[in-house]
Amino acid sequence: MIDLHCHILAGIDDGPETMEGSLALARAAAAAGTRTIVATPHVSWRYGNDSATIARLVAQTNAAFADTDVGVTVLAGAEIAMSRAADLAATELAALTLGGGPWLLIECPFTSVAIGLDELILELEEAGHGVVLAHPERSPAFQRDPQMLESLVRGGVLTSITAGSLVGRFGGTVRRFALGLMEAELVHNVASDAHDPEQRRPGMADELREAGLEGMTEWLTEGVPAAIIAGEDSLPPRPRIDFAKVAARRDSWWRHGPLRRAS
Ligand SMILES: [Fe+2]
Repeated sequence: MIDLHCHILAGIDDGPETMEGSLALARAAAAAGTRTIVATPHVSWRYGNDSATIARLVAQTNAAFADTDVGVTVLAGAEIAMSRAADLAATELAALTLGGGPWLLIECPFTSVAIGLDELILELEEAGHGVVLAHPERSPAFQRDPQMLESLVRGGVLTSITAGSLVGRFGGTVRRFALGLMEAELVHNVASDAHDPEQRRPGMADELREAGLEGMTEWLTEGVPAAIIAGEDSLPPRPRIDFAKVAARRDSWWRHGPLRRAS
């Protein structure tokens, strides 16, 4: 699997503090079936990281991993806060894409409104980037106004939800919303958003299986992320799965939510 969102670099944000910590996270990821990790440290007002620092740490991390049997490759990326993205120079944004492709991972606001998000996305798209929204299922703005997310997806935005959201690690509301987005075909990727080997841990396949979504694992964690990194013009075809069989279907947010299928 390819993990498109993981805080694996040491000493740069709220991920591991040391290279030993990075290696422990990578070992847990490998045990969960991940072979490629896109390092996505926060780029925000709190964590003022830049592309040169990230590139240097990615090289150091791969060199350290090469001396072990962990078998995980790290690519450069970033999780860019919405408010920070608007302030970055074009050259810097271009150096912060996921795995060197055209896509930027933008962190959804944890506020009840997302003022300026659509304008920001338009600006980024006009600059030649695609936008992948990180964990929209955890954003109160989208929980309150799912049609906003639906319209962004119809406009070409991709979404990456956190594996733990599907199994209740962020509470029942987030879980139901995540399953509803999945059923409404508004999700393109599931990533770990791991910060450590235990609490915010790596891995996606177990969570997808627990949620009854194992039929989408390959598409969500290999096909789509590979296409994103490679900058393919289109994503591989979405597998059709029977949501009647999905675990927790009975209390799915979708049943009571206003969304229809996006496609
Ligand atoms: Fe993250």
